[in-house]
Amino acid sequence: MTQRRPLVAGNWKMHGLRKNLSEVSAICAAVAEGIAGDAEVLICPPATLLIAAARICEGSKVALGGQHCHEEPSGPFTGDLSAEMLKDAGATYVILGHSERRSGHHEGNHSVHEKTLGALRAGLTAIVCVGETKSEREAGDALRLVGSQLIGSIPKSASSESLVIAYEPVWAIGTGLTPTPEDIAEMHHFIRVQVNDILPGQGAALRILYGGSVKPGNAAKLLLVKDVDGALVGGASLNSSEFMGIAGIYREFVRTT
Ligand code: 13P
Repeated sequence: MTQRRPLVAGNWKMHGLRKNLSEVSAICAAVAEGIAGDAEVLICPPATLLIAAARICEGSKVALGGQHCHEEPSGPFTGDLSAEMLKDAGATYVILGHSERRSGHHEGNHSVHEKTLGALRAGLTAIVCVGETKSEREAGDALRLVGSQLIGSIPKSASSESLVIAYEPVWAIGTGLTPTPEDIAEMHHFIRVQVNDILPGQGAALRILYGGSVKPGNAAKLLLVKDVDGALVGGASLNSSEFMGIAGIYREFVRTT
């Protein structure tokens, strides 16, 4: 049986000033106390905080990530950041294809594919986000839509080491709404099978995160589901106690399926 190490990732989105770095320190301390068990804990702050956060996380088990990158390593792209820059600032992960970028910045699957290649080139692990809208779910189109996002976004050179998939139903993000555990299990199983088709042999070890309104109170229900290997947390990741309340479900937990 393949053991997948759970990953609890916090996406701070466009939140956080230097004063909020105290939350990073608190998360490092909690992880050092063993609150997250064997789970890997990742914080993706705004890029402006990465270097300072990296200083805080140095020597800790907490990883850092970016929230987006340009596909090129450098060049005349005003306002953009490359995967190499994120890595240089202390990131080991980067979130790509988040629905807020897919919708707000018109990032299509091809663009996510190219950015994922950029992440792999720089040696970052790409967290590629997929997920359907409310109307797509209601139309019974969720699996097909997510399947096409996976095919369009994942480069053939990716592996279960360099890639994590985050299933984030758009309608569950920041709304307090969540899918049922059965719907999550169905989608995560589907994602594992699809990714195994795209990257033969990689499905079993691939980590698939659930994201969308994960809170300490619903974390066990949403995350201790077959084929769910952790969470991508938005709002609740801004507060170290809430974030650790979510990661804390892994304290006594060893994933074997
Ligand atoms: P919330 O946890 O705030 O719903 O956000 C989820 C998300 O978009 C994480 O990337």
